[in-house]
Amino acid sequence: MAFDDLYQEIILDHAKHPRNKENLDFISDDEIHENPTCGDSVKIAVDFSKDGKLERVRFDGDGCAISTSSASMMTEIVEGKSKEAVLNMIKSFILIMRNEDESSLEDWGDLIALEGVIKYPLRVKCATLPWHALENALL
Ligand code: FES
Repeated sequence: MAFDDLYQEIILDHAKHPRNKENLDFISDDEIHENPTCGDSVKIAVDFSKDGKLERVRFDGDGCAISTSSASMMTEIVEGKSKEAVLNMIKSFILIMRNEDESSLEDWGDLIALEGVIKYPLRVKCATLPWHALENALL
């Protein structure tokens, strides 16, 4: 199987079976993060453990396959990390996706599948939408 096909499958798997996606109606509309290009939005809920680590990140939203899969992968990779570490990851991920940092997503688990999106600026907004939402939820 070619890499592109493999990455496509990873993206579709997360889009069809998103991890940590739940109804988050308890979150107010002020905290919804929207992609102005398409109007899709995402909400994020964060739970911290007693030692200050991100115990669980949940999301809810109506985004496209790219934003849903990016959100799903994001909730998995940030689990168990400190708030500072996650804020740094968010910064790095956004820079990599915007092609402003040439680092690879090789060590980012399933998120490597999103590297192909970098050449499509409109899709980059989809991929980074949940990351901006998580940043808002953490600040
Ligand atoms: Fe709206 Fe991708 S098209 S988030």
